Amino acid sequence: MPAIAVIGSIVADIVVQTPRLPRSGENLHAKRIRVMPGGKAANAAVAFTRLGGRAYLLGNTGSDAFAAMARQALEQEGVSISTVRADPEHPTGSGILLVEATGQTAFIIDPGANLTLPVAWVEEALRPLLPVLDGLLFNFEAPEACLLRAVELARAHNLPVFVDAGPARPYTPVLWQGAAVLTPNQAEAEAMVGYSLAESAAAEQAARQLLEQGARTVVLKMGGRGALVAQDRKLWWSPAFPVQVVDSAGDGDAFTAGLVLALLEGRSLADAVVYANACGAIAAARAGTMVSMPTAAEVAALLRGSRV
Ligand code: RIB
Repeated sequence: MPAIAVIGSIVADIVVQTPRLPRSGENLHAKRIRVMPGGKAANAAVAFTRLGGRAYLLGNTGSDAFAAMARQALEQEGVSISTVRADPEHPTGSGILLVEATGQTAFIIDPGANLTLPVAWVEEALRPLLPVLDGLLFNFEAPEACLLRAVELARAHNLPVFVDAGPARPYTPVLWQGAAVLTPNQAEAEAMVGYSLAESAAAEQAARQLLEQGARTVVLKMGGRGALVAQDRKLWWSPAFPVQVVDSAGDGDAFTAGLVLALLEGRSLADAVVYANACGAIAAARAGTMVSMPTAAEVAALLRGSRV
């Protein structure tokens, strides 16, 4: 069973299912409003565990009701949370996630304690885990200094580093130099290279450009267009599974967790990306964030040809 540490965000998601985004000053009826645990790192840790791996989550919550909700859910899922800190002074991260009838999403987040994760905590929490880990995964909902320290430690132990470059932040490319895989989505990749990836040729140029910055492999998560993979001189598109998108929030977290798991299990890059696409499709076809993460059995069924 592959084991990874996941560093990054733990968030209480206030998920609002709405027919459309409200106009300024408008009073609109939601279809449904729910509060649920989320956060890119927490979601990925849950997905990795549901897919059959062992995930150690490193993050920072507040000491409040949102923290209790997240901790309970993560424990129930079997994620190791002994390295999740409870910040006495800052609230747990929270956000309002607007999900339109089309499945498109818009998110407003208060990162809260996610941004007060101390570097010393990361170092102390990660060091004893290193001998049992097969890889390190992180996203950009954590302080850059924490991620830089974690990368240094992982490199010193020859651990593969997987970088989920979300959400878009102007973080240093040092974070993905030598990374096993860098997996931004379209918006994040656009922020990294500074131009639109609407055209396939532009996306391919961006993938090559990010490869030149030092990642060993770049996998762009392009939603319904599938995944664009770049490694050495090779570049190819891996098509998305056809799916009725209900809620695209969290599908990228499921994709990245699936990719990391499949690679650590020894699958080829091409097979691992197909597996990751299946994970993303299952998450996109369901409402919610952490709750929508796929299980190994669901992915196997989709790969056998079952419909989502
Ligand atoms: O990727 C989806 C996640 O991003 C949500 O769960 C939200 O908390 C934000 O971190």
